[in-house]
Amino acid sequence: MFAFVATSAMAASIGSVNSIKTLKVERGLTEEGKSCIECHAKETPGHVNDWKESRHGHVGVSCVDCHKVEKDNPMATQNCPGVKGTQTFVSMLVSPNTCSRCHPNEVQEFHESGHARGALQVRAKAGMQELMQHYEGRDHPEFKHTPEATGCMQCHGAIIELAADGRPTAETWPNYGIGNVYPDGGVGNCKSCHSVHKFSIEEARKPSACASCHMGPDHPDIEIYNNSMHGHIFNAEGHTWKYDSAPDAWEPGDYRAPTCATCHMSGVGELTTTHNVSRRLKWNLWAPFSNLRDGGYDTAYSDFKNSGKIGIGNPTAGHPKGHEAARLEMEHVCKQCHISTHTKNFFEVGDKFVGLYNTYAKDAKAMIDELKDKGLLKDDEWADEAQVIWYHLWHHQGRRMRQGALMAGPDYAHWHGVFELQQDIRKLEIIYNNRIKTGKIE
Ligand code: HEC
Ligand code: HEC
Ligand code: HEC
Ligand code: HEC
Ligand code: HEC
Ligand code: HEC
Ligand code: HEC
Ligand code: HEC
Repeated sequence: MFAFVATSAMAASIGSVNSIKTLKVERGLTEEGKSCIECHAKETPGHVNDWKESRHGHVGVSCVDCHKVEKDNPMATQNCPGVKGTQTFVSMLVSPNTCSRCHPNEVQEFHESGHARGALQVRAKAGMQELMQHYEGRDHPEFKHTPEATGCMQCHGAIIELAADGRPTAETWPNYGIGNVYPDGGVGNCKSCHSVHKFSIEEARKPSACASCHMGPDHPDIEIYNNSMHGHIFNAEGHTWKYDSAPDAWEPGDYRAPTCATCHMSGVGELTTTHNVSRRLKWNLWAPFSNLRDGGYDTAYSDFKNSGKIGIGNPTAGHPKGHEAARLEMEHVCKQCHISTHTKNFFEVGDKFVGLYNTYAKDAKAMIDELKDKGLLKDDEWADEAQVIWYHLWHHQGRRMRQGALMAGPDYAHWHGVFELQQDIRKLEIIYNNRIKTGKIE
């Protein structure tokens, strides 16, 4: 343990009773390692306090282990006044490349998941760039990147760019987006779920770790969870559960109902923990049409690493052995607390509901495709009622319908889901019939 020696100094400008704490570290750290902690305890006490509470603090992984870099690292700077003019270079940005020195499995699994394409696929899709900069940002020379920086990027991550002084640009940082691309080639963001500098597994096991991104009209996963019986139980008694069991050893009994992490990531029974959130998924439930996930690992990271390609990755990424293996793993989670008939019946009807969704998507898309062939769609899709309905059908209500059903949130499966779809398809049919009959866009 550390020996903390607190001394006081009067902070005259604030008042007579305020004190500044000095932290003295006497343990197996180098002089340099200690110096960071001692000075930062005064300058940025928030960082040191969080680190001190963390497993890293306990096992002696300190500031230098993550922030000290070689001079030729593209992120190396001496912007820290404590190292200016010395032989030491530091980087404020810490990418998964650094974590992977000590946690290679977690980083590799993350790279095989859909999370790793978060920023790359948004950059790769011309339609998304046009939405953010042209339609939302109005192509304004000064303001056009702000919709992206305040919205999309905070969840998806950014391709982080550095200014001349080595600091990240305001358009690309700060953010906690899941798929950040760092100037050292690192991809992903570990602090999205394990916030700095506590890097806690307890935090990541709670639904709030996912809720800041998995919410809202187009992927209301936290709302669905709160609507489910599992969320009901978590909200009633989750504050009394045990979250600090060793990695891979957090089991039913520590908790009475699953959280997001339990079903998608944690080691449960014979399953081991995975940082590949796509692994236990049978379907793609976000795309316009729900296909089975038989595409193996996601490829956005490997493509980027091997050839610098900024691509959309693999929408059917999942379990390396395909969708049946994925479903078996998910069922293994359920079976810790439910009998097999419960689990089998639940998925039987859930899968059929995804099938029902696909019939809506197929019929709606057929109308859109025919209108397109006949020149009966506007070029500006966001000003075309037919295309806006189609977008909401799959991107908003269609995702709510599918995700609501498979995560047992009835209000999202139904009222925010299929009910809205049956309204959408009727509205689309009226527009379609009218355009086909008149040969004109209304
Ligand atoms: C386990 C690795 C790790 C350790 C140990 C660590 N950091 Fe960090 N630190 C990070 C990561 C990751 C970030 C987030 C960078 C980003 O936003 O991309 C960060 C961010 C920072 C920042 C800028 C953050 C801001 O929001 O103002 C400072 C300054 C910093 N750390 C200082 C420290 C100090 C001082 C220590 C030692 C007490 C320390 N770090 C220990 C990984 C670490
Ligand atoms: C003498 C005090 C002192 C010492 C020693 C010190 N720091 Fe700092 N460091 C600071 C201050 C002050 C800042 C600037 C805070 C700000 O910009 O608000 C800073 C900034 C940083 C930053 C952010 C740099 C950036 O790009 O803006 C990092 C990372 C950092 N320190 C890490 C370290 C590490 C690692 C060590 C030990 C090798 C260390 N510091 C030693 C005082 C110190
Ligand atoms: C120098 C090696 C080293 C580096 C670099 C490092 N870690 Fe760790 N990390 C450890 C050790 C050692 C443990 C403690 C394992 C244990 O508890 O037995 C640990 C534990 C953890 C835990 C589990 C915490 C808990 O509550 O049990 C998380 C999460 C974690 N690290 C995340 C990160 C992230 C994210 C990064 C990069 C920003 C990182 N680590 C960088 C060595 C490292
Ligand atoms: C910082 C934001 C953020 C956090 C926190 C976050 N996610 Fe995600 N998640 C995303 C984004 C963005 C995507 C879409 C990635 C893409 O396809 O571009 C995503 C996609 C997913 C997917 C689908 C992957 C696929 O292959 O289609 C699952 C499942 C998922 N997340 C589960 C979780 C769970 C469980 C947690 C919490 C333990 C979590 N996420 C935390 C942002 C986040
Ligand atoms: C509140 C967080 C959040 C914001 C803001 C956000 N997204 Fe997403 N996005 C997500 C999550 C979470 C998913 C995954 C949905 C799922 O798996 O069902 C996702 C999925 C996607 C996908 C489909 C996944 C893929 O691989 O193609 C695209 C494209 C996308 N988002 C683009 C954007 C763009 C562009 C913006 C800004 C105009 C944006 N998102 C804003 C969280 C967010
Ligand atoms: C989507 C949320 C999420 C992200 C992003 C995330 N983790 Fe985790 N991490 C978790 C959860 C949840 C656990 C606890 C699993 C369990 O219940 O045992 C965990 C556990 C860990 C552990 C403890 C050992 C283990 O594997 O169980 C380490 C180390 C770790 N994470 C490192 C990382 C690193 C490094 C990154 C960045 C590549 C990262 N995590 C990104 C959610 C996340
Ligand atoms: C009871 C287990 C369980 C819990 C708890 C749970 N999920 Fe899910 N989740 C599932 C199942 C099952 C699916 C559908 C998998 C499939 O495709 O067969 C799913 C699907 C998803 C998807 C859709 C991926 C896609 O293809 O679009 C996302 C995103 C997601 N979950 C995130 C979360 C988040 C975030 C939470 C917590 C707020 C959460 N889940 C809680 C079991 C769970
Ligand atoms: C940690 C234990 C646990 C796990 C794991 C778990 N559940 Fe549950 N689940 C519960 C509890 C407790 C209830 C409420 C009591 C009950 O009705 O059985 C519940 C209720 C439900 C309900 C509401 C209907 C009902 O019978 O009350 C559904 C549906 C459900 N779970 C599906 C699943 C599915 C699907 C999985 C796996 C993807 C799963 N559960 C995983 C504990 C769990």
